[in-house]
Amino acid sequence: MIGQINRKIKVYNRVAIFYDILDLPFEHSRYKSLRKIVFDGLSGSLLDAGVGTGRNFPFYPKDSKVTGIDLSPAMLHRARIRQRKLRISVTLKEMNVTALNFPDNTFDNVVATFLFCVLEESQQVFALNELRRVCQARGIIRILEYSISQNPIRRFIMKLWEPWVKHIYGAAFDQRTEQYAETAGLELIEERWLYKDIIKMISLSPKSL
Ligand SMILES: C[S@@+](CC[C@H](N)C(=O)[O-])C[C@H]1O[C@@H](n2cnc3c(N)ncnc32)[C@H](O)[C@@H]1O
Repeated sequence: MIGQINRKIKVYNRVAIFYDILDLPFEHSRYKSLRKIVFDGLSGSLLDAGVGTGRNFPFYPKDSKVTGIDLSPAMLHRARIRQRKLRISVTLKEMNVTALNFPDNTFDNVVATFLFCVLEESQQVFALNELRRVCQARGIIRILEYSISQNPIRRFIMKLWEPWVKHIYGAAFDQRTEQYAETAGLELIEERWLYKDIIKMISLSPKSL
């Protein structure tokens, strides 16, 4: 696992400087409107896991207190620049989502946008476990993720993109994170397609004992 983590730090430290530019067309045509939906109705103390360059900052609910964590110092550096520019109140910390340095039940709600697609299969349950542990019993964990389309043409295009996405971001389109929810002690509350059958929002909640 340490080897995987170190490789991921390398990948994101390398791509950090180009990240926002590479993502710009998708950010404007797709992600912006979806990020708004992810934060809809959330309040209180929030964890933004895998905060990246801070693309979610403009969508943080006004009355919330947000902590963003990320593995890559270079991505966090870009997030700090964005934080100053937008004057956003957010606490940023370097941390691995599979070993969070927060006490149990720290956050009212948790959000992770395009984080689980970059985690290896073997890390999915560990990451979900940690998000459950730091989330309050009645909290919501919202995850925004890619999925491989069932439409033959879209699927073909995504398959063509896959090696590039793997190389540049260390990401996969089809991690199907929701399949690990039960093992991680989470209940699947909602699964909702937000962009065709390609980007979905998964809402999870800690299972009541
Ligand atoms: C595709 S980016 C998404 C960034 C941001 N959430 C967004 O929506 O634009 C994935 C982010 O997850 C971070 N990451 C990868 N593995 C991680 C881990 N194990 N713990 C915390 N962050 C991680 C990467 O450094 C990167 O910033």
